[in-house]
Amino acid sequence: MSIIEAKNITYLYSDGTKALDNINFKVEKGQIVSLLGKNGAGKSTLFLHFNGIFEPENGEILIDGEKLEYNKKGLLKARQKVGIVFQNPDDQLFAPTVEEDVAFGPLNIGLSQEETKKRVTDSLKRVGMEGYEKKPPHHLSGGQKKKVAIAGILAMNPEIMVLDEPTSGLDPKGASKMLKLLYELNNKGMTIIISTHDVDLVPLYSDKVNVIKNGTIIKEGTPHEVFDDINLIRDADLRLPRVAHLLEVLEKEDNLKISDSYPLTIGEARKDLLKYIDKEKI
Ligand SMILES: Nc1ncnc2c1ncn2[C@@H]1O[C@H](COP(=O)(O)OP(=O)(O)O)[C@@H](O)[C@H]1O
Ligand SMILES: [Mg+2]
Repeated sequence: MSIIEAKNITYLYSDGTKALDNINFKVEKGQIVSLLGKNGAGKSTLFLHFNGIFEPENGEILIDGEKLEYNKKGLLKARQKVGIVFQNPDDQLFAPTVEEDVAFGPLNIGLSQEETKKRVTDSLKRVGMEGYEKKPPHHLSGGQKKKVAIAGILAMNPEIMVLDEPTSGLDPKGASKMLKLLYELNNKGMTIIISTHDVDLVPLYSDKVNVIKNGTIIKEGTPHEVFDDINLIRDADLRLPRVAHLLEVLEKEDNLKISDSYPLTIGEARKDLLKYIDKEKI
């Protein structure tokens, strides 16, 4: 059974924009799943359905097989299980200091001061923001705000963590650290859903990839199942990961067919190239 599922979700904004058109999307427990799509494809709109911030025009959200109900009890339940880190941290951070911001969620669900303090310290440490406890969030850089927003959700210890473009605005080292953190959380059992248009990062961490275009999921599968369909990727205004593109150019321009399916990561390319070089030597 899926831990979370969007079934036939359609959503209209008040100006009539149909941002989601009969979306089906599901995630198995313990996986890291990416939602890949260009700007305006509908990623943020879909994510805001996962804990009931948006109520769909049609369709339903199932969490652990249970239909999300849009009443106080149902929403509270959904928000304890599903934590969403917004695309823009300014939409999330509001308290006068970093520590008060991170403490807000745990206090709100009735945790003790002591337990809250522990969670605040631990979450800030995990995102690399210890030492910033007393700072006002609006004095932080964009990337730092993003990390504090993530700490705020981490402190709630949700079963499912949904992150809307978690690496955008981070420097390269910050982005790698972020992925490492998500990987660690996933290893401890947290289910993770990430939206992005960064095709180079997706194959590094995703168990499954969903491609969204014009408010519809047009492909779902493993990174290879998705990126092997080059026409679909380009049709969605995305591109192959750089390393796959290099191998595509070598095949098309230089007649070097190195593998049946283009490698998506440096690690895969390295293996394929070493095999190819050995073969040539014999
Ligand atoms: N508040 C809004 N009012 C009207 N249209 C909106 C609003 N927010 C987003 N949209 C439109 O909905 C579509 C999906 O947007 P969004 O979910 O933000 O895409 P993404 O996160 O993939 O960039 C886009 O066409 C966007 O212009
Ligand atoms: Mg978005």
